Amino acid sequence: MTAALPSSGTAESWISNLADLETPVPLVDLDRLERNLDRMAAYAAAHGLALRPHTKTHKSPRVGAEQLRRGAVGLTCATPLEAEVMSEVCDDILLAYQAIGSPKLQRLMALPDRVRLTVAVDSPDAVEQLARAAQERGKTVGVYVELDLGMHRVGVGAPEEMLRLARLVAARPPLEYRGIMFYPGHIRSPVGQQGNHLERLASSLRDALELLDRSGLPQSVVSGGSTPTVGDSDQIAGLTEIRPGTYVYNDRTTVQVGACDWNDCAVTVLAGVVSTAVPGQAVVDAGSKALGREPSQTDGDGYGALLDRPDVTVQRLSEEHGILDLSRTSWRPAVGEQVRIVPNHVCIAVHLHEVIYGIRGDTIETSWPMVARGRRPL
Ligand SMILES: Cc1ncc(COP(=O)(O)O)c(C=O)c1O
Repeated sequence: MTAALPSSGTAESWISNLADLETPVPLVDLDRLERNLDRMAAYAAAHGLALRPHTKTHKSPRVGAEQLRRGAVGLTCATPLEAEVMSEVCDDILLAYQAIGSPKLQRLMALPDRVRLTVAVDSPDAVEQLARAAQERGKTVGVYVELDLGMHRVGVGAPEEMLRLARLVAARPPLEYRGIMFYPGHIRSPVGQQGNHLERLASSLRDALELLDRSGLPQSVVSGGSTPTVGDSDQIAGLTEIRPGTYVYNDRTTVQVGACDWNDCAVTVLAGVVSTAVPGQAVVDAGSKALGREPSQTDGDGYGALLDRPDVTVQRLSEEHGILDLSRTSWRPAVGEQVRIVPNHVCIAVHLHEVIYGIRGDTIETSWPMVARGRRPL
């Protein structure tokens, strides 16, 4: 076990009781967070995989620093703002996103020179824009060519196209070809039932890697991994790097796909019961602006569930109201009572709040801001 997360000393940390917090507000169980961080670090080390966690889940350099302290080789970001914020604690950043257009490129090129930057591309246009921006700033920028292995979101589909792009990058200093990446975000079936998907993915990856081997390009990084599939990363031949994000906090969806247990969910939204006037339900102050309107893996099963009573779900949402379905419980909360909700999709819920409070048991130990949330001009 590594040491506990250090205290933040932020202005809010004088509040030590949950009852004193204005709800809705996110909480992170520090013991669970540390266990999740340790477990992923141990998995990566045991299988010789480089761990480059995605920071979109926590949006916090403090959590990023904890990932690095436990052996992560660097951090992954989706937005240039995340990269800017994470550069406070990290010298090796992957922007796993196409950097198109001058505003995004300018922010990236303004990263401190000590940062070894790598950017995903899937088109000659992206290569050209990145090369010009890097040239103007006199920077070397690494590139992963993004491959579509079934998600059909971004990435080139044909291995030959991947090779063409890789060669284009290799011939276009100050860019540096550093490898390929893919994101298995289409694999959301329960752990243990992902076999067919993973075999198909591994087979497409094998074809791509054989082509790269024959090409004479240097052996390089093969980056993949998502929280629902990460436990089988060691079964995917050729994979060298994993980029799980959600694992730090986990959520109801991750439980539903079987990639974690309910007691691995580190983040909850603390909410207060504001009304029980309508029979058969209780209304809390966490609505879509606190939880996100993210569908459940199980059709029609609400937008979150209570940590201590998973059979009580948030069945309906207004912006500032969450309607708890009490039909499967005899529990009847009183107005003013606090509840803790595990959101369906923790990355969205975290991003909706300014500050998260770290707790052990029922005591608030620390707090930190989600510095990399939102959008703001350079
Ligand atoms: C490109 C990329 N890599 C890695 C991840 C992390 O996936 P997960 O949150 O399932 O761990 C994401 C998530 O959106 C992603 O888009």
